Amino acid sequence: MNHYVVLWKAVRSSGFLLFPWGHCPWRGTGSLLDPKMKAFLEENTEVTSSGSLTPEIQLRLLTPRCKFWWERADLWPLRDPYWAIYWPGGQALSRYLLDNPDVVRGKSVLDIGSGCGATAIAAKMSGAFRILANDIDPIAGMAITLNCELNQLNPFPILIKNILDLEQDKWDLVVLGDMFYDEDLADSLLQWLKNCFETHRTQVLIGDPGRPQFSGHSIQHQLHKVAEYSLPEPTRQDNNGLTTSTVWQFQP
Ligand SMILES: C[S@@+](CC[C@H](N)C(=O)[O-])C[C@H]1O[C@@H](n2cnc3c(N)ncnc32)[C@H](O)[C@@H]1O
Repeated sequence: MNHYVVLWKAVRSSGFLLFPWGHCPWRGTGSLLDPKMKAFLEENTEVTSSGSLTPEIQLRLLTPRCKFWWERADLWPLRDPYWAIYWPGGQALSRYLLDNPDVVRGKSVLDIGSGCGATAIAAKMSGAFRILANDIDPIAGMAITLNCELNQLNPFPILIKNILDLEQDKWDLVVLGDMFYDEDLADSLLQWLKNCFETHRTQVLIGDPGRPQFSGHSIQHQLHKVAEYSLPEPTRQDNNGLTTSTVWQFQP
């Protein structure tokens, strides 16, 4: 599978596999990590901290030194591995949280669409009091668990569920890295974030590298630019045409 095929598939995919234990919404890191799946993830990813905006965070990712980077896409046995990529939106957001710990210190933080978990990990490193990493992919939950261990962090809870269907909890800060890659998802997120802001006055930070589904969305009228980062060369190469990534505050 060529890396770009994986990325392309990941970006376009919206169908989700159900795992037998997928109904269990709360999962503490380290718990119930299936040994076979753990071995599969360890064998088919590489631990890396280079090539991103946050070299202080180690992650298990799909890299050119992994077998499936080069294999045919249809040989990959799981759903598309969003969690095996550190997306440019998440990189900017994580960099921002690491450089501005006051934004998260002592606060409750929800990372929606956490993927590899880097932004939740950055929030933890910067002193967040309570963290929830959320994704709809159970394998992302396992990857986040492994990535927490890699960074010697005490575990934080992981919610494997479409949080947009749930009643809203109160969070001080909601972060979303590279979540605006699909128009329908962008519409649902906007509605959810608006409710969250109106009900709880929650602060919302969005990391995005200028994807058309974000730049052309009506959410643009409700954003304030917080920081912009030049992407490292390896990230540019993996994300054809993208050169910067921006952190936005959502202000409806
Ligand atoms: C492009 S990746 C971004 C991952 C990570 N935030 C980053 O920047 O590296 C998008 C992630 O959102 C997850 N996702 C998609 N729809 C979701 C939903 N409704 N609720 C939670 N997660 C979702 C996907 O499984 C995927 O892991």
